[in-house]
Amino acid sequence: MERKEFIEKVGLSGAAILIFGCMQSCSKDVASSDTQNQNKPPNSSGGDASSNKIDFTIDINTAPYDVLKNIGGYAIYMESKIIIARASNTEFLAVSSVCTHQGATLQYRSNTSKFYCPLHGSNFNQNGSVANGPAAQSLKQYSTSLSGSKLRIFE
Ligand code: FES
Repeated sequence: MERKEFIEKVGLSGAAILIFGCMQSCSKDVASSDTQNQNKPPNSSGGDASSNKIDFTIDINTAPYDVLKNIGGYAIYMESKIIIARASNTEFLAVSSVCTHQGATLQYRSNTSKFYCPLHGSNFNQNGSVANGPAAQSLKQYSTSLSGSKLRIFE
């Protein structure tokens, strides 16, 4: 092999390795970005990653939150374990969806205007306070704000 031919072959191989290496690292970046997007709940946005404060927005025109278009409808925002209910045309409620007795997931009952625990029957008022036990501790309550179809839940 001539010197010139050797340099040409090594040069091409080196360039190929560089390009291949770049493609691998670029594809890893895309994959990790996709992974982050997959963890994001549908139709929600917001939240400050540097803060532990709850602050997110859902669209009540889009499933699974479209049940909130109806008075008495409720949905659970699973990522933060918050139950959101529509109490009236203008009033939305948001409290922790985890029963303070033994951790069961709550429901909202529009006929009593209370959050109900199906496991042992505790009821919580709209502000999260205990209406009847066995639960003894209130639910954490969150603020809500509706703008168009965007409902913000925050503390
Ligand atoms: S877990 Fe809710 S009342 Fe027991």
